[in-house]
Amino acid sequence: MISVLGIFVADISFSGPKIPSTGETILGTKYNIGPGGKGCNQAIAIARLGGELNFLSKIGKDDYGKLALKTLIQNKIKTDHIIQDENLQTGVAGIFVDKSSGKNAINVITGAPSTLTLNEIKDNLNIIKKSKIFLTQLEIPKDVTLHCLKIAKENNILTILNPAPASDLPEEFFNYIDYFTPNETEAEFFTGLKITNKNEAKEASKKIINMGVKKVIITLGDKGLFYSDGKEEIYLKATSVQAIDTTGAGDAFNGGLAFGLSKNKPIKECLELANKVAGLSTTKLGAGDSMPFLKEVN
Ligand code: RIB
Repeated sequence: MISVLGIFVADISFSGPKIPSTGETILGTKYNIGPGGKGCNQAIAIARLGGELNFLSKIGKDDYGKLALKTLIQNKIKTDHIIQDENLQTGVAGIFVDKSSGKNAINVITGAPSTLTLNEIKDNLNIIKKSKIFLTQLEIPKDVTLHCLKIAKENNILTILNPAPASDLPEEFFNYIDYFTPNETEAEFFTGLKITNKNEAKEASKKIINMGVKKVIITLGDKGLFYSDGKEEIYLKATSVQAIDTTGAGDAFNGGLAFGLSKNKPIKECLELANKVAGLSTTKLGAGDSMPFLKEVN
């Protein structure tokens, strides 16, 4: 069983010839409203691969809250661990997508989960303790994230932190992380090193391992990924695809990784699977809705 703690938001995406610059208006070509939020995207990726999971989150009782529940039900994800608060709004993300490269810029308003407290999450700690893997990101309050990582580690649960969006973390965080999965921008934030290729990713990964995490995977977009546990190193090229929207590709990767690890696959196979899931997710518009099903991956 995998437990995923994170947010659901409604992604409102605008696709056009470029990502607008400050002060600029452009005429776009398409818009889409669909499920997003890193936690929810990762949960959908796992569910579509056939993984068993619990999704722990908080939403409002509004139209986007209805979209959250509908999305989870459609993807056969249990809704028992979703806290709904009628006084709060479900979050939204505004996303600009450059249709020729699939690259994006995101502004996320997390809404209801920004108020998540340790007290609210305490009933769900047993779910985390009974899991094989605990996967989370940095979109909910950090004290809650840290507490859950700590509880997971104290119970020998394998932990994955996808440190997105990147922000300062207390040193203690790193003691409770088995797999740390930044993209190149986030890895630059945590190391202060510029990362444009495999060798630079290798240098950054050394620095991250020295911070105390057990294993690091730096995803490099169309340049692939770099894995290190301090001894073994693996570099994989990106899956070759015609990307139309890269939103959620990192989430697809993390979902694929968690699924592979939950099936006790060797690390290289987990990375290959996650890489493929991430690549396939970029061939469709949207985030949650673009997660591939097992039959597409096979
Ligand atoms: O990783 C992509 C996700 O980040 C989007 O779905 C958006 O909602 C933000 O949370």
